[in-house]
Amino acid sequence: MNRLQGKTALITGGTTGIGFATAKLFLQEGARVAIIGQDEQRVRAAAEELGAGVVAIRADVASASDMEAAAARIKLEFGRLDIVFANAGIAKPAPFADADASNIDDQIDVNLKGVIYTVQKTLPLLNNPASIIFTSTTLAEQGANNLGIYSATKAAVRSLARTLSSELKERGVRVNVISPGLIETPIYGKLGMTPEAVQAWAGELLGKVPAGRFGQAHEIAKVALFLASDDSSYILGENLLVDGGMATI
Ligand SMILES: NC(=O)c1ccc[n+]([C@@H]2O[C@H](COP(=O)([O-])OP(=O)(O)OC[C@H]3O[C@@H](n4cnc5c(N)ncnc54)[C@H](OP(=O)(O)O)[C@@H]3O)[C@@H](O)[C@H]2O)c1
Repeated sequence: MNRLQGKTALITGGTTGIGFATAKLFLQEGARVAIIGQDEQRVRAAAEELGAGVVAIRADVASASDMEAAAARIKLEFGRLDIVFANAGIAKPAPFADADASNIDDQIDVNLKGVIYTVQKTLPLLNNPASIIFTSTTLAEQGANNLGIYSATKAAVRSLARTLSSELKERGVRVNVISPGLIETPIYGKLGMTPEAVQAWAGELLGKVPAGRFGQAHEIAKVALFLASDDSSYILGENLLVDGGMATI
């Protein structure tokens, strides 16, 4: 308890799944937390469930102006930021040959540009020391059919963490990555596939997980807490695979 006492955190994609579980844990650990989601109703529902102490903002991470306005609101509420968890992301599975312009643009806009804008707009607010965390995926380390564009956007984010770690080290900012495996979150209902197709596909992927089960959002949140806190003070530019052994064993 209280590992983040006195700290302030921004979590993009904090309204559901991994981001929401992390917001809950950070609040329990004493942080003041701002969350961002793009769906107004889910932003309101998350704010209600998280209760007092959370600042809930509707913004599209893919929009530079939305993220500038979000940073201005955070400055007003918190003044400074200690932790930025750039976690918002989408997946639009499609065979590579069938991925049309909107499929490609949407995934690059949210998963890559969204991370870029999140960091650029919040940089002026960052304390020394501060921690930035990106959400990539274990699938950036391996080939999974129909996820070529998604996995490439996530591999780009992993690369960005290395460069930013170097550029921001003088400012006391550590940048690290979490690469989740199969985590049970609402993302599987947003893939544009029928529930039956999702089940069949997830079952196939599950066969590649040595742990033999889906991970839970709180298991990623605990790793985000580690990277956000001083417990990881000597870790820079690292990528932590939290995937039940999927990419390693
Ligand atoms: N679950 C997995 O198996 C898994 C595995 C590897 C990596 N990941 C990554 O983990 C991250 C979190 O995903 P999750 O599994 O927790 O899924 P999720 O429950 O769908 O959460 C995604 C979050 O991102 C937000 N978001 C999406 N597009 C946005 C946008 N344009 N602007 C602002 N917020 C936006 C969503 O808000 P709205 O609901 O308002 O859109 C939601 O809060 C993602 O980056 C995902 O790629 C997930």
